[in-house]
Amino acid sequence: MSALSVIFILLFYAASAVFLGGFILKVYGYASTPAPLKIPTTPAPITKSGVALRLAGEVLLFTSLFKGNKWTWLGGYAFHAAFAVVIFRHLRYFIQPVPDLMAYLNPTGIWAGVVLLGAAGYLFARRIYVDRVYYISSGADYFILILIGLIAGTGLLMKFVTRTDVMGVKEFTLGLVTFSPANMPADFMFIIHFTLVLALMVYFPFSKLMHLGGIFFSPTRNQVDDSRDHRHVNPWAPT
Ligand code: HEM
Repeated sequence: MSALSVIFILLFYAASAVFLGGFILKVYGYASTPAPLKIPTTPAPITKSGVALRLAGEVLLFTSLFKGNKWTWLGGYAFHAAFAVVIFRHLRYFIQPVPDLMAYLNPTGIWAGVVLLGAAGYLFARRIYVDRVYYISSGADYFILILIGLIAGTGLLMKFVTRTDVMGVKEFTLGLVTFSPANMPADFMFIIHFTLVLALMVYFPFSKLMHLGGIFFSPTRNQVDDSRDHRHVNPWAPT
């Protein structure tokens, strides 16, 4: 096996450990942080199923962003939906045999990559050209858009321009998940794409990307508005 393959295989396992371990630790932190006050954003649901419904609306449709700003919603929604489709499409590199549904959706799914790159550019431009957004933007906000944009860009270049050996990639990725190491294709664009993905995995748990897990623990979103029916007692407040 080539030295390059060994290095990238080790880097992949290290990045996976940081990603999974970091994600779980962060979520554990959110779950064990007390929420002493009743602070659901009103008008709020008064039952648990109502809360689940509202949360589902937030996660699947970005409802409060839609109410807040239609243009940001459009860019943000396109970005997240495209990201989800791209990840779904990539599962074919890790599953053998590829399920029929995945194979069927594959040709349409390729456009998700184009939308992802376009939406990342749009959200980047918004941070620069909308004054009040520019004012509150930090380096991390630009960094993540650039990183994801570069991953999408190198992916699209592989697909449409440089034509990577996808069978070689699949052997490599299947080897990674089945713990039976295989050679990494020594393809420049693939190496860049893969390296950027490893960087994303390592950065993820330490970044604002953790909103993926955090949204479910946000007290303004996950609390039932029942303070008129039940006295809310802060568990550690002296009585
Ligand atoms: C270990 C992880 C990954 C591997 C092995 C991988 C590999 C590849 C390969 C081989 C292609 C070329 C597809 C073709 O020519 O048909 C590709 C395309 C692409 N990749 Fe990745 N990739 C990974 C993760 C990601 C991630 C996390 C993103 C998310 C931003 C991403 C975004 C894209 C995009 C947008 C394309 C072009 C469109 C498409 O084929 O869906 N990749 N990737």
